[in-house]
Amino acid sequence: MTELIYLSDSYRQNDRAKIVSSERSEKDTLIVLDQTIFYPQGGGQPSDKGEIVGPNGKAKVKHVRMQGDDVVHECILEGELKAGDHVDCAIDWDWRYRNMRRHSAGHIVHEAAMIVSPLLIPVKGEHGSNPYIEYKGSLPIDSKYVIEKKANEIVEKNLALTTEFVSLEELQKRASYVPQHLPKNKPLRILIIEGFHPIPDGGTQVSKTSEVGPITISKIENEDDKVRIYYAIEETQPSVSIPQESLSGAQYVGFVLEAQQNAKKILEDTSLGVEDLRIALLGSKSELASLTKQIRNVIASDRQQAGTVLNQVKRSIEKQLNEVSSVKRQASSEEFFDMTAPGIPPPMGHLHIVTQAITEITRIFEKIGFTRVRHPEVDWDWYAFESLNMPPNHPARDEWETFFVESSKLENNKRFQSIVLTPHTSNGQVREMEKSKLPIRMINIAKCYRRQSDVSHVPMFHQFEGMYIDKGVSIGNLTGVFDFFVKNYHGIDRKIRLRPFHFQFTEPSFEVDINCGICLGKGCRLCKEGWLELGGAGMIHPVVLKNGGINPQDYNGFAFGWGVERAYMMKSGTKLDDIRLIYSNDIRFLQQF
Ligand code: PHE
Repeated sequence: MTELIYLSDSYRQNDRAKIVSSERSEKDTLIVLDQTIFYPQGGGQPSDKGEIVGPNGKAKVKHVRMQGDDVVHECILEGELKAGDHVDCAIDWDWRYRNMRRHSAGHIVHEAAMIVSPLLIPVKGEHGSNPYIEYKGSLPIDSKYVIEKKANEIVEKNLALTTEFVSLEELQKRASYVPQHLPKNKPLRILIIEGFHPIPDGGTQVSKTSEVGPITISKIENEDDKVRIYYAIEETQPSVSIPQESLSGAQYVGFVLEAQQNAKKILEDTSLGVEDLRIALLGSKSELASLTKQIRNVIASDRQQAGTVLNQVKRSIEKQLNEVSSVKRQASSEEFFDMTAPGIPPPMGHLHIVTQAITEITRIFEKIGFTRVRHPEVDWDWYAFESLNMPPNHPARDEWETFFVESSKLENNKRFQSIVLTPHTSNGQVREMEKSKLPIRMINIAKCYRRQSDVSHVPMFHQFEGMYIDKGVSIGNLTGVFDFFVKNYHGIDRKIRLRPFHFQFTEPSFEVDINCGICLGKGCRLCKEGWLELGGAGMIHPVVLKNGGINPQDYNGFAFGWGVERAYMMKSGTKLDDIRLIYSNDIRFLQQF
């Protein structure tokens, strides 16, 4: 039985051990030691490589595996190594340390995933060249941003990773999840990330989370009832010489200015070609690149200013580099320009998801005779409120967290009052009636503004307002139109339901719900009750018709106003944990649609 040194000391790079057996197989020599620092492949972590040196020979360790209670080192032997020899062992530390960081990163990603979705059941982890963790369950693909954020928070907090040996009984008490088939009568090793539940683990681990460096979640892949979270770390060891958040702005700027001086010297070096210069000054191993990474170590209050200085220096270096390069290019006639080389295709964009939604919604309503119209997005109070049966100071107005435009010139306008950024598209109702063309079938899609910004609200969003006015319009027409819309936009298996509600400008009023696209109304984790709210609707109030110059004795109609972003999310099943992402201009988010 080999004593497993790496289990209690993941940082041991050298060891003196005794050979228990050395056998020649077909192509390799198989060596068993009394104790080993070599990690045998398992638990998703690749095996170590390295060297075993004895008095009469030397073995290159290619692969290491567990066999029963023994660790077998598969080696290429030069000379002789025999049982009883005392040998010096050394592992390939770069290789090990990278694997170890990747393995610890896997545990960090796991904790982050558990924060985001505690119902996932771990299946396995793969921490080799394309690392991932697999769970039973599923995750929305855009949860990768939250998981990445949480994982990097754990890294940045620089939490301690410690290991302990415990009995299975104790493990069951302390761990939140215990895999089946663990040996009962052996001490088990557990890993604890400071502040999290212990996890059984037999791999090598770094001692502080910051050693792992930045983690990227590259992809979330759902298949059948399983989901894989693919992650990556930076291949080279992050610089740990500067502890987290310990640089003052002044210190950092000092480094930046030093880098600027060094850059000058590099630019003066006449032996360097244009490309070499660019790599030395701006490449991924340049001083500037490492300073860019280290900006997160600057204390938060100084970070913005430090960043500005860094950018200025970067721009000035780029400018000097361009100047020097063009001089060098002119000077060297050897520079070869390949006119036949294929061009670089510019990246292709696509319409923003909200624009896509607006187009699609418009097309659907057009099919049943509705016309897309535009009305002001900055409008008189009269159209946004008063004509809709909400005179100034009416309490119902409070539901629309309205932005008012201040202007002394507008104050005297008795009829129209002040100016607002439209908090809903219903300002288009009376405006459309004023065109005095009946019947009306309008679909008004526009920006709306409300004083709200949090995970489920953006201060600027879109609504689509439908209005139908004719002789003898009924609630049956209203449900018919809604049904037509959701079946075309959301899918044929989707249904609507009306709930009584109150709006000043419709009577009766409803709130319209759509059945959840996942469980179709039965109730699931996403929707809870089976139904999701689409927006408001109702039969237009006679007072509103009158305000628009229409005689309610002759004509009646219905109207509805729903959120574009909301309707889109109910179609795609996209569940954003932060709706502000839609307008954050983050290409990683937008590329997914
Ligand atoms: N304007 C209402 C809102 O923003 C929705 C609505 C429109 C309700 C038309 C009834 C009729 O909540």
